[in-house]
Amino acid sequence: MGGRAPAVTVLSYDLLAVVYDAIPPGQAYQSVLHQAQALFARYAPDARRVLDLACGTGSAAVALAAAGYQVTGLDLSPEMVRLATKKAAQAGLDVAFHVGDMRDFALAEPVDAVLCLGDAVNHLLDLDDLQRAFQCMARALSPGGLLVFDVNTRHGLEEWDGQTLAADAGEFAYIWECRLDSKTGITTVRASFFLPDPEPPRFRRFQDTFYERAWPLEVLYEVMKQSGLELLGTFGWQTMAAGTEADRHVTLGARRCSPP
Ligand SMILES: C[S@@+](CC[C@H](N)C(=O)[O-])C[C@H]1O[C@@H](n2cnc3c(N)ncnc32)[C@H](O)[C@@H]1O
Repeated sequence: MGGRAPAVTVLSYDLLAVVYDAIPPGQAYQSVLHQAQALFARYAPDARRVLDLACGTGSAAVALAAAGYQVTGLDLSPEMVRLATKKAAQAGLDVAFHVGDMRDFALAEPVDAVLCLGDAVNHLLDLDDLQRAFQCMARALSPGGLLVFDVNTRHGLEEWDGQTLAADAGEFAYIWECRLDSKTGITTVRASFFLPDPEPPRFRRFQDTFYERAWPLEVLYEVMKQSGLELLGTFGWQTMAAGTEADRHVTLGARRCSPP
């Protein structure tokens, strides 16, 4: 072994894709998806065409397609899109997945609903990115169409601050260290993953840094309004009761009210 330094490789969402479904963020979609479906039932019962934006490995998209929706998925990570396409094919479902940026995309045909789950909106780190993303979402919707997205609140990111999350997930292990910059509201997550090396029982270490920004709800409301999206409600975690900044995580529903 000698004094050889451990191999460290840069990780990105492309590589995280491989383990995403086995870690808590990848499994959380189910709770939020149920809430999103309740919002569909309340605000868009006739919705048929859905865009799953920042779809990750396509879990929500595949569940919606299985429920009879006509689904399109879009994500920045080609590897996430590859795995999502494979997941839909394995389920025998026809879902069109595309590589794309939520800050700069346009659909050939508008949809009745846009879903953007898994705190993907927290990944937008400056106001210009946030505005561009909401303008694209509004344009992707037909008039009256429904937008549902979830975010970690400032309170939620404060709870992550200083935490180290570690787990041995059998095939792989991970350590996440979270730090919140109180001035910018941006949380830095330094992630290390230990994945099997081609020469077992060795493991290779992969590292990456992710950022999430806590957007004040008032800022989200204003940006949505500027984009032609009318707020329908802010809901708490796994509930249809009102959510506030005091919640760690909220889901928002909005309707496209006028051409942006
Ligand atoms: C935490 S994952 C959520 C995935 C999925 N929505 C879920 O609920 O499981 C965040 C996803 O956002 C995607 N993402 C980040 N920035 C993006 C951007 N600018 N445009 C599109 N996708 C983006 C990442 O590639 C990743 O798949």
